[in-house]
Amino acid sequence: MATTEKARGGLEDVVATSSAICYLDGERGVLAYCGYDIHDLARSATFEEVCYLLWHRRLPTRAELGDLQSQLAAARPLPEPIVRLMRMLPPVDGMDALRTVASALAHYDAEAGDASPAAQYRKAVRLTAQIGTIVATWGRLRAGGGAIAPDPVMGHAANFLYLLTGERPDATASRAFDVALTLHADHELNASTFAGRVTAATLSDIYSAVVAAIGTLKGPLHGGANAEVMKMLLDLGETATGERVDEVVRAKLARKEKIPGFGHRVYRTEDPRATHLRQMSRELGKRAGKTAWFDMSQRIEALVTTEKKLNANVDFYSASTYYTLGIPLDLYTPIFAVSRVSGWTAHILEQYANNRLIRPRAEYTGPVYPQRFVPLDQR
Ligand SMILES: CC(C)(COP(=O)(O)OP(=O)(O)OC[C@H]1O[C@@H](n2cnc3c(N)ncnc32)[C@H](O)[C@@H]1OP(=O)(O)O)[C@@H](O)C(=O)NCCC(=O)NCCS
Repeated sequence: MATTEKARGGLEDVVATSSAICYLDGERGVLAYCGYDIHDLARSATFEEVCYLLWHRRLPTRAELGDLQSQLAAARPLPEPIVRLMRMLPPVDGMDALRTVASALAHYDAEAGDASPAAQYRKAVRLTAQIGTIVATWGRLRAGGGAIAPDPVMGHAANFLYLLTGERPDATASRAFDVALTLHADHELNASTFAGRVTAATLSDIYSAVVAAIGTLKGPLHGGANAEVMKMLLDLGETATGERVDEVVRAKLARKEKIPGFGHRVYRTEDPRATHLRQMSRELGKRAGKTAWFDMSQRIEALVTTEKKLNANVDFYSASTYYTLGIPLDLYTPIFAVSRVSGWTAHILEQYANNRLIRPRAEYTGPVYPQRFVPLDQR
């Protein structure tokens, strides 16, 4: 091997690339997109502004934002064969459906094979617009509803809720969902973004890179955790007493089971995204007149932080937030993708712009070299 350094499990703290997109300080609990603190963005920006920021490394003017909103609106409707494909799929998990359908999108993109920077950017916009429509339409078709045409006047978050439920969401629900999209948009070299960059670095196409990222996001150690959190809450049941919650969580910890929604590879403090999602879960619960899921989440959080010194991550309170917004459980992880596709594509474009094949080494731990080869009939 070229290096004598021992392989580090899970590449922990290994710096694998340089990037101008996301600043992360796990010791101080700082997350910033292109220098803008996530708290400021969550409070004051829209998801569309965040998309522009990630793709262009600066905030848009009003005119630039208007242009992007028009481009997204124009791209949101799905090609008809894509809706037909969704109708043909068996009732699979939302992430499995998204992986298949996002891959199929490439076949209906006239620019799929165009690797020019301008075409790659247009594809990033289209993918971001259409992945929202795919996930919402999938949720609606699966529930027995008919596909709805996106409303060009509504923003990305409001359109998603409209396409999913068939009802125009009120301002509170739209804003809550918009903030959730902002919070999930990028997170430096997380596993799915890394997968996307590795694929792009072979100079494969942007659809292949995004599909690689989708497959990676699916796992319960990554984006799949938000659905696992809600499964845990539902298993406990909304009428579970605080004592019962403690008993079940303690038993899980005693069995060395991981509690979904806690722990993080980078943060040693509270995940700054969890701060907003906790507040959102509380407020939406109050508005719906039902705080059982929030109360239960808080009880679990108190126990896990005290007993295991682990903080809630982005997935913990997004579960009760989405549940209160009426979103079906198997769409939680696809919704992560609806947002993260903005970050994935920003990283993929950055990779294309300054590319070198990503090809690390492995520390060899197999049988000693050389082994004597024994022919098949003598073994
Ligand atoms: C996020 C995560 C994958 C980070 O993993 P990691 O950096 O490789 O950390 P490890 O899995 O090695 O965990 C380190 C220690 O903390 C414990 N731990 C980590 N997360 C835990 C959790 N959620 N519940 C209970 N214990 C946990 C591990 O069991 C391990 O304990 P040990 O040293 O006694 O064996 C991990 O915290 C996890 O699996 N969390 C639950 C899934 C989740 O919420 N994922 C979404 C992340 S945004």
